[in-house]
Amino acid sequence: MTVYAIVNQKGGVGKTTTAVNLGAALREAGQQVLVVDLDPQGNATLHCGLNPDRQSKTVWSALSASLRMNGVGMAGGEGAELVFGVELEPSGESRPSLEECIISAGEDGFDLVPANLELSQADADLMSAINRERRLHRLLEPIRDRYDFILIDCPPYLGLLTINALATADYAIVPLQAAYLAMKGVNTLFRTIALVQRDLNYGLRVRGVLLTMVDRRTVHSQQVASVARSTISRKIPVFETEIPQNVDLADAAAAGKSVLLYAPHSRGALAYRKLAEELINA
Ligand SMILES: Nc1ncnc2c1ncn2[C@@H]1O[C@H](COP(=O)(O)OP(=O)(O)OP(=O)(O)O)[C@@H](O)[C@H]1O
Ligand SMILES: [Mg+2]
Repeated sequence: MTVYAIVNQKGGVGKTTTAVNLGAALREAGQQVLVVDLDPQGNATLHCGLNPDRQSKTVWSALSASLRMNGVGMAGGEGAELVFGVELEPSGESRPSLEECIISAGEDGFDLVPANLELSQADADLMSAINRERRLHRLLEPIRDRYDFILIDCPPYLGLLTINALATADYAIVPLQAAYLAMKGVNTLFRTIALVQRDLNYGLRVRGVLLTMVDRRTVHSQQVASVARSTISRKIPVFETEIPQNVDLADAAAAGKSVLLYAPHSRGALAYRKLAEELINA
Protein backbone atom coordinates (compact mmCIF):
# COMPACT_ATOMS: atom_id res chain seq x y z
CA MET A 1 0.00 0.00 0.00
CA THR A 2 2.33 2.57 -1.30
CA VAL A 3 0.93 5.54 -3.17
CA TYR A 4 2.98 7.04 -6.00
CA ALA A 5 2.17 10.35 -7.70
CA ILE A 6 3.55 10.36 -11.22
CA VAL A 7 4.16 14.03 -11.65
CA ASN A 8 5.73 16.63 -13.88
CA GLN A 9 4.00 19.84 -14.92
CA LYS A 10 5.70 19.61 -18.29
CA GLY A 11 3.44 17.96 -20.86
CA GLY A 12 4.26 14.89 -22.89
CA VAL A 13 7.14 13.58 -20.80
CA GLY A 14 5.75 10.06 -20.31
CA LYS A 15 3.63 10.35 -17.13
CA THR A 16 0.64 8.46 -18.51
CA THR A 17 2.80 5.94 -20.36
CA THR A 18 4.55 5.27 -17.06
CA ALA A 19 1.34 5.03 -15.00
CA VAL A 20 -0.22 2.44 -17.31
CA ASN A 21 2.84 0.37 -18.23
CA LEU A 22 4.34 0.39 -14.75
CA GLY A 23 0.89 -0.55 -13.43
CA ALA A 24 0.73 -3.46 -15.88
CA ALA A 25 4.28 -4.58 -15.05
CA LEU A 26 3.60 -4.51 -11.30
CA ARG A 27 0.41 -6.48 -11.87
CA GLU A 28 2.30 -8.99 -14.02
CA ALA A 29 4.66 -9.43 -11.07
CA GLY A 30 1.69 -10.40 -8.88
CA GLN A 31 1.06 -7.07 -7.16
CA GLN A 32 -2.37 -5.57 -6.47
CA VAL A 33 -2.43 -2.34 -8.46
CA LEU A 34 -4.77 0.64 -8.76
CA VAL A 35 -4.16 3.38 -11.32
CA VAL A 36 -5.97 6.66 -10.65
CA ASP A 37 -6.43 8.84 -13.72
CA LEU A 38 -6.23 12.35 -12.27
CA ASP A 39 -5.96 14.16 -15.59
CA PRO A 40 -9.02 15.71 -17.31
CA GLN A 41 -7.50 14.59 -20.63
CA GLY A 42 -8.37 11.03 -19.57
CA ASN A 43 -5.30 9.66 -21.32
CA ALA A 44 -4.68 6.85 -18.85
CA THR A 45 -8.32 5.82 -19.29
CA LEU A 46 -7.86 5.85 -23.07
CA HIS A 47 -4.60 3.92 -22.78
CA CYS A 48 -6.59 1.21 -20.98
CA GLY A 49 -8.83 0.92 -24.04
CA LEU A 50 -11.75 2.79 -22.50
CA ASN A 51 -13.61 5.78 -23.87
CA PRO A 52 -13.35 8.53 -21.23
CA ASP A 53 -16.63 10.14 -22.38
CA ARG A 54 -18.56 6.93 -21.73
CA GLN A 55 -17.42 6.64 -18.10
CA SER A 56 -20.22 7.60 -15.75
CA LYS A 57 -18.29 7.11 -12.52
CA THR A 58 -14.97 8.88 -12.54
CA VAL A 59 -12.60 10.36 -10.01
CA TRP A 60 -14.56 13.57 -10.46
CA SER A 61 -17.82 11.85 -9.44
CA ALA A 62 -16.24 10.92 -6.12
CA LEU A 63 -14.48 14.26 -5.63
CA SER A 64 -17.55 16.32 -6.42
CA ALA A 65 -19.72 14.11 -4.18
CA SER A 66 -17.33 14.77 -1.32
CA LEU A 67 -17.51 18.52 -2.01
CA ARG A 68 -21.32 18.42 -2.02
CA MET A 69 -21.14 16.89 1.43
CA ASN A 70 -19.74 20.13 2.68
CA GLY A 71 -22.19 22.15 0.68
CA VAL A 72 -19.43 24.04 -1.03
CA GLY A 73 -20.97 26.11 -3.73
CA MET A 74 -22.77 23.18 -5.30
CA ALA A 75 -26.43 22.28 -5.53
CA GLY A 76 -27.39 19.56 -3.08
CA GLY A 77 -29.90 17.99 -5.45
CA GLU A 78 -33.39 16.80 -4.66
CA GLY A 79 -34.34 16.67 -1.02
CA ALA A 80 -31.27 18.56 0.17
CA GLU A 81 -31.83 20.26 3.47
CA LEU A 82 -30.75 23.79 4.22
CA VAL A 83 -28.46 24.24 7.19
CA PHE A 84 -27.34 27.80 7.86
CA GLY A 85 -28.34 28.49 4.29
CA VAL A 86 -25.98 25.82 2.97
CA GLU A 87 -27.26 22.81 1.11
CA LEU A 88 -26.15 19.49 2.53
CA GLU A 89 -26.76 15.99 1.25
CA PRO A 90 -29.68 14.52 3.22
CA SER A 91 -28.08 11.10 3.67
CA GLY A 92 -24.93 12.38 5.33
CA GLU A 93 -22.94 10.01 3.13
CA SER A 94 -21.27 11.00 -0.10
CA ARG A 95 -22.11 9.07 -3.26
CA PRO A 96 -20.36 7.70 -5.09
CA SER A 97 -17.37 6.79 -2.98
CA LEU A 98 -14.04 6.36 -4.77
CA GLU A 99 -14.44 2.62 -4.34
CA GLU A 100 -17.62 2.70 -6.40
CA CYS A 101 -15.68 4.36 -9.23
CA ILE A 102 -13.11 1.57 -9.54
CA ILE A 103 -13.32 -0.48 -12.72
CA SER A 104 -11.12 -3.16 -14.24
CA ALA A 105 -8.58 -1.91 -16.76
CA GLY A 106 -9.29 -4.99 -18.84
CA GLU A 107 -6.77 -7.58 -20.00
CA ASP A 108 -3.95 -5.94 -18.08
CA GLY A 109 -5.63 -6.94 -14.86
CA PHE A 110 -5.08 -3.86 -12.74
CA ASP A 111 -7.83 -1.62 -11.38
CA LEU A 112 -8.53 1.87 -12.65
CA VAL A 113 -10.39 4.94 -11.52
CA PRO A 114 -11.10 6.64 -14.85
CA ALA A 115 -11.28 10.35 -15.66
CA ASN A 116 -12.72 12.54 -18.36
CA LEU A 117 -13.11 16.20 -19.22
CA GLU A 118 -15.53 16.75 -16.32
CA LEU A 119 -12.50 16.73 -14.07
CA SER A 120 -11.44 20.07 -15.56
CA GLN A 121 -13.92 21.71 -13.15
CA ALA A 122 -12.02 20.33 -10.21
CA ASP A 123 -9.41 23.04 -9.76
CA ALA A 124 -12.06 25.77 -9.69
CA ASP A 125 -14.46 23.83 -7.45
CA LEU A 126 -11.76 22.72 -5.04
CA MET A 127 -10.59 26.31 -4.67
CA SER A 128 -13.40 27.19 -2.26
CA ALA A 129 -13.54 23.80 -0.54
CA ILE A 130 -12.60 23.12 3.03
CA ASN A 131 -9.44 21.04 3.23
CA ARG A 132 -9.05 21.45 -0.51
CA GLU A 133 -5.56 19.96 -0.71
CA ARG A 134 -6.48 16.74 1.07
CA ARG A 135 -9.70 15.73 -0.64
CA LEU A 136 -8.14 12.89 -2.60
CA HIS A 137 -6.39 11.70 0.53
CA ARG A 138 -9.74 11.39 2.30
CA LEU A 139 -11.22 9.51 -0.64
CA LEU A 140 -8.31 7.06 -0.89
CA GLU A 141 -8.15 6.30 2.80
CA PRO A 142 -10.74 3.48 2.86
CA ILE A 143 -9.18 1.61 -0.10
CA ARG A 144 -5.48 2.22 0.48
CA ASP A 145 -4.90 -1.07 2.27
CA ARG A 146 -6.33 -3.16 -0.53
CA TYR A 147 -3.52 -2.44 -2.95
CA ASP A 148 0.22 -2.93 -2.96
CA PHE A 149 0.65 -0.04 -5.36
CA ILE A 150 -1.56 2.94 -6.14
CA LEU A 151 -0.28 5.02 -9.07
CA ILE A 152 -1.74 8.49 -9.65
CA ASP A 153 -1.38 9.90 -13.16
CA CYS A 154 -1.15 13.68 -12.69
CA PRO A 155 -2.13 16.39 -15.18
CA PRO A 156 0.54 18.61 -16.78
CA TYR A 157 0.13 21.60 -14.47
CA LEU A 158 0.77 22.34 -10.81
CA GLY A 159 -2.84 22.99 -9.78
CA LEU A 160 -4.95 21.65 -6.95
CA LEU A 161 -5.31 18.21 -8.55
CA THR A 162 -1.56 17.72 -8.57
CA ILE A 163 -1.30 19.12 -5.03
CA ASN A 164 -3.98 16.63 -3.94
CA ALA A 165 -1.97 13.80 -5.48
CA LEU A 166 1.23 14.94 -3.73
CA ALA A 167 -0.62 15.44 -0.44
CA THR A 168 -1.68 11.79 -0.38
CA ALA A 169 1.38 10.16 -1.97
CA ASP A 170 4.15 8.37 -0.16
CA TYR A 171 6.42 8.99 -3.12
CA ALA A 172 6.64 11.10 -6.24
CA ILE A 173 7.98 9.61 -9.45
CA VAL A 174 9.17 12.32 -11.83
CA PRO A 175 9.41 11.30 -15.49
CA LEU A 176 11.93 13.52 -17.24
CA GLN A 177 12.33 13.48 -20.98
CA ALA A 178 15.95 13.09 -21.98
CA ALA A 179 15.90 16.09 -24.28
CA TYR A 180 17.33 19.57 -24.37
CA LEU A 181 15.30 22.04 -22.23
CA ALA A 182 13.34 19.21 -20.59
CA MET A 183 15.06 19.99 -17.32
CA LYS A 184 13.70 23.52 -17.39
CA GLY A 185 10.91 23.74 -14.86
CA VAL A 186 12.04 20.75 -12.89
CA ASN A 187 13.24 23.05 -10.10
CA THR A 188 9.75 24.56 -9.82
CA LEU A 189 8.42 21.05 -9.43
CA PHE A 190 10.92 20.15 -6.72
CA ARG A 191 10.09 23.38 -4.90
CA THR A 192 6.39 22.48 -4.99
CA ILE A 193 7.15 18.99 -3.71
CA ALA A 194 9.21 20.51 -0.89
CA LEU A 195 6.36 22.88 0.04
CA VAL A 196 3.82 20.05 0.06
CA GLN A 197 6.19 18.05 2.21
CA ARG A 198 6.60 20.90 4.68
CA ASP A 199 2.96 21.97 4.91
CA LEU A 200 0.77 19.01 3.99
CA ASN A 201 2.50 15.67 3.85
CA TYR A 202 5.64 15.31 5.88
CA GLY A 203 6.18 11.74 4.70
CA LEU A 204 6.38 12.65 1.01
CA ARG A 205 9.61 11.64 -0.73
CA VAL A 206 10.82 11.69 -4.32
CA ARG A 207 11.22 8.01 -5.13
CA GLY A 208 13.10 8.88 -8.24
CA VAL A 209 13.51 10.85 -11.42
CA LEU A 210 12.77 8.56 -14.34
CA LEU A 211 14.64 9.32 -17.54
CA THR A 212 12.21 8.73 -20.42
CA MET A 213 12.40 8.67 -24.21
CA VAL A 214 16.12 8.03 -24.02
CA ASP A 215 17.55 7.45 -27.47
CA ARG A 216 20.87 5.72 -27.02
CA ARG A 217 21.54 5.97 -30.77
CA THR A 218 21.86 9.73 -30.71
CA VAL A 219 24.77 11.39 -28.98
CA HIS A 220 22.48 14.27 -28.02
CA SER A 221 20.03 12.12 -26.06
CA GLN A 222 22.86 10.20 -24.41
CA GLN A 223 24.50 13.44 -23.34
CA VAL A 224 21.27 14.83 -21.93
CA ALA A 225 20.65 11.58 -20.05
CA SER A 226 24.11 11.51 -18.51
CA VAL A 227 24.08 15.21 -17.63
CA ALA A 228 20.65 14.83 -16.05
CA ARG A 229 21.82 11.80 -14.14
CA SER A 230 24.98 13.41 -12.84
CA THR A 231 23.47 16.79 -11.93
CA ILE A 232 20.15 15.61 -10.47
CA SER A 233 21.42 12.55 -8.65
CA ARG A 234 23.52 14.71 -6.36
CA LYS A 235 20.31 15.80 -4.64
CA ILE A 236 17.54 13.49 -5.76
CA PRO A 237 17.50 9.76 -6.55
CA VAL A 238 17.43 8.83 -10.23
CA PHE A 239 16.09 5.41 -11.22
CA GLU A 240 18.69 3.08 -12.61
CA THR A 241 16.12 2.02 -15.21
CA GLU A 242 15.84 4.32 -18.21
CA ILE A 243 12.85 4.22 -20.52
CA PRO A 244 14.04 4.09 -24.12
CA GLN A 245 12.49 5.90 -27.04
CA ASN A 246 10.37 3.05 -28.36
CA VAL A 247 7.56 3.33 -30.88
CA ASP A 248 5.84 0.26 -29.40
CA LEU A 249 5.02 2.39 -26.35
CA ALA A 250 3.10 4.88 -28.49
CA ASP A 251 1.48 2.11 -30.55
CA ALA A 252 0.38 0.26 -27.40
CA ALA A 253 -1.35 3.44 -26.16
CA ALA A 254 -3.20 3.72 -29.47
CA ALA A 255 -4.15 0.03 -29.24
CA GLY A 256 -5.64 0.62 -25.77
CA LYS A 257 -3.44 -1.78 -23.84
CA SER A 258 -0.12 -1.86 -22.08
CA VAL A 259 3.07 -2.46 -24.02
CA LEU A 260 3.48 -5.66 -22.00
CA LEU A 261 0.48 -7.11 -23.83
CA TYR A 262 0.97 -5.25 -27.10
CA ALA A 263 4.65 -6.03 -27.63
CA PRO A 264 5.82 -8.20 -24.71
CA HIS A 265 9.44 -8.42 -25.87
CA SER A 266 9.88 -4.82 -26.96
CA ARG A 267 12.49 -2.61 -25.33
CA GLY A 268 9.69 -0.55 -23.80
CA ALA A 269 8.15 -3.62 -22.15
CA LEU A 270 11.51 -4.76 -20.81
CA ALA A 271 12.20 -1.31 -19.38
CA TYR A 272 8.89 -1.07 -17.54
CA ARG A 273 9.35 -4.60 -16.16
CA LYS A 274 12.76 -3.55 -14.90
CA LEU A 275 11.32 -0.40 -13.32
CA ALA A 276 8.66 -2.53 -11.58
CA GLU A 277 11.41 -4.75 -10.18
CA GLU A 278 13.29 -1.69 -8.96
CA LEU A 279 10.18 -0.62 -7.02
CA ILE A 280 9.31 -4.06 -5.69
CA ASN A 281 12.85 -4.76 -4.52
CA ALA A 282 13.31 -1.34 -2.95
N1 LIG B 1 9.49 6.08 -24.25
C1 LIG B 1 8.69 6.47 -25.23
N2 LIG B 1 8.99 6.20 -26.52
C2 LIG B 1 8.17 6.63 -27.51
N3 LIG B 1 7.03 7.30 -27.33
C3 LIG B 1 6.67 7.59 -26.08
C4 LIG B 1 7.46 7.19 -24.96
N4 LIG B 1 6.85 7.61 -23.82
C5 LIG B 1 5.73 8.23 -24.21
N5 LIG B 1 5.61 8.23 -25.56
C6 LIG B 1 4.56 8.89 -26.34
O1 LIG B 1 4.71 10.28 -26.17
C7 LIG B 1 3.45 10.91 -25.99
C8 LIG B 1 3.40 11.59 -24.61
O2 LIG B 1 3.49 10.58 -23.61
P1 LIG B 1 2.53 10.59 -22.33
O3 LIG B 1 1.12 10.79 -22.76
O4 LIG B 1 2.84 9.39 -21.53
O5 LIG B 1 3.07 11.88 -21.61
P2 LIG B 1 2.40 12.68 -20.43
O6 LIG B 1 3.50 13.27 -19.64
O7 LIG B 1 1.40 11.86 -19.73
O8 LIG B 1 1.63 13.82 -21.24
P3 LIG B 1 0.58 14.89 -20.63
O9 LIG B 1 1.42 15.85 -19.92
O10 LIG B 1 -0.12 15.44 -21.81
O11 LIG B 1 -0.32 14.12 -19.72
C9 LIG B 1 2.41 9.83 -26.17
O12 LIG B 1 2.00 9.83 -27.50
C10 LIG B 1 3.17 8.55 -25.85
O13 LIG B 1 2.62 7.43 -26.52
MG1 LIG C 1 -0.61 12.23 -19.31
